[in-house]
Amino acid sequence: MCGIVGVLSDKPAAPLMMDALRRLEYRGYDSAGLATGSGGALDRRRAAGKLSALQDVLEAAPLPGTSGIGHTRWATHGPPNVENAHPHVAGRVAVVHNGIIENHAALRAELIAAGASFESATDTEVVAHMLDREIADGASPEQAMARVMPRLTGAFAFVVLVAGEEDLLLAARRASPLAIGLGDGAAYVGSDAVALAPITRRIVYLEDGDWAVLRRSGVQVFAGDGTPVERREQISTVSAAMIGKGNYRHFMEKEIHDQPEAIAHTLHAVIDPGTGKATLPPPLDTAETVAKITILAAGTSYYAGLTARYWLESIAGIACEVELASEFRDRKAVLPDGGVAIAVSQSGESLDTLMALRHAKALGQKVLALVNVPESTIARESDGVLLTRAGPEFGVASTKAFTAQLTAFLGLAVALGAARGHIDAGEVLRLVKALEAVPGRVADVLKDTGPYQIIAHDLARARDVLYLGRGLSYPIALEGALKLKEITYVHAEGYAAGEMKHGPIALIDEHVPVVIVAPSDGWFDKTASNMAEVRARGGKVILLTDKAGAAALGDGADHLVVLPDVPSEVAPILYTVPVQLMAYLAAVEKGTDADQPRNLAKSVTVE
Ligand code: M6R
Repeated sequence: MCGIVGVLSDKPAAPLMMDALRRLEYRGYDSAGLATGSGGALDRRRAAGKLSALQDVLEAAPLPGTSGIGHTRWATHGPPNVENAHPHVAGRVAVVHNGIIENHAALRAELIAAGASFESATDTEVVAHMLDREIADGASPEQAMARVMPRLTGAFAFVVLVAGEEDLLLAARRASPLAIGLGDGAAYVGSDAVALAPITRRIVYLEDGDWAVLRRSGVQVFAGDGTPVERREQISTVSAAMIGKGNYRHFMEKEIHDQPEAIAHTLHAVIDPGTGKATLPPPLDTAETVAKITILAAGTSYYAGLTARYWLESIAGIACEVELASEFRDRKAVLPDGGVAIAVSQSGESLDTLMALRHAKALGQKVLALVNVPESTIARESDGVLLTRAGPEFGVASTKAFTAQLTAFLGLAVALGAARGHIDAGEVLRLVKALEAVPGRVADVLKDTGPYQIIAHDLARARDVLYLGRGLSYPIALEGALKLKEITYVHAEGYAAGEMKHGPIALIDEHVPVVIVAPSDGWFDKTASNMAEVRARGGKVILLTDKAGAAALGDGADHLVVLPDVPSEVAPILYTVPVQLMAYLAAVEKGTDADQPRNLAKSVTVE
């Protein structure tokens, strides 16, 4: 987590960095800071809290200089106060950092024994001290970097500014992402290409272990062992036009409303709109011989994987396990020869998922990345990529990326089912038609958000909320609960409806709203029994169903939402939209920050 940026320009650096940091604030917003170089000295401004606090500081005390580094923090080591805000400075060196220097305690002890004194509780400050010592001993900044890099362990990215070196930035990455931007007589660096989009789309991605020397005239990249390497310049697919909020109150609201388009674009990445033919990306293009699929993911992406398991088993007839990335990477999982792992990630940068991907490779699996960012680390380290085409997602609560992941997975299951002969041509056609209709049905749901406003009023006032679903609706119950808790701070749990009687039923009383996700599919009758059990204990039922479901159960619901009729296979995509809207509107009602909820960050690049 944390967003980092660096600028070497002929224009004032501070406004350029503030603009880039605004696009990186999704990565963390505990504190922010900038340092610039001018007249041979370093100057620094920092503030606790969101970027707006730093903006106030800068208005009172502007920063001169055309070279600089900046940071927006998600706290790991040390509380979110000004002392721990980046940049950290030791002598001539200032550093901004994302990730964790795992051996920081040993390095700090060594530096203190040698006379260094520390100002912060962060792991970052050791890097500033180590570089400063090397430079004080006569090393050039580049030599200092070459000596310090091999001594650091962990997953991190950092950028360095040195006093008196106003045409120089040093940047390094190990596992954490970092993009270098090239300009005319200018050079930039940022945690992602989105940060740099308005100033340049000419990007060089550092590879794992690389470090780089940036000057206005160009960039030189070195591999971890210090040998110079060539890294290809690419034109980023992200444009400045894609990154606004439009007329919506929050990015989350906009991204919920982006879904018809995100789903349609993603679908056409898998299924040709002209022929209806589905194509398989490598390494799934040898579908007949794929022994098993192991899905690796975190958070909302994990719930997309849980949904996909139903489709892959029933439509493609293929064995599938879904693993929480953070648990999988430390397990000695037994995986078959010829197995394929699918790493699912909106950002393509979640460190847990990246480490799980590497672990799966070490266990002999080929890897497919299902990501929303084509240039991401997970995409680059995989054997094949299936892109969700949701466009940049800024709200910390994932919305359109999730329904795009579901769409890609269902398209993939259809393509696999066809290739493996598990479904016939008629069934392929039926499923493709069902998928093609989803954007329109989602747009229908989004036309009238009134019913969700009324429900949100109750949810915002609840202490606990339960979400229940069976089969394909179970992961949607989990996703609904996650959405509500992360942006409203209301305690919510998602359960498999059949599991409720094994424990959670004890929570139910007249104060507990229970959201039941129940399209009239093959699981409906059993869910209906579970709804009766909730009613019998006084629980308040919020029922999401279709016309047939409403006719059967509507009378027993305190709130009834009737969704368009769709084939059961695509229902999870459609039924996600109401749970997103309910959570979003509850956050607005409570006055919490839906885009930047407390303690969270969009891209989680620590373990
Ligand atoms: O970028 P990723 O899909 O790898 O992110 C995984 C999770 O961190 C993410 O889904 C998180 O749970 C969201 N805040 C959920 O809304």
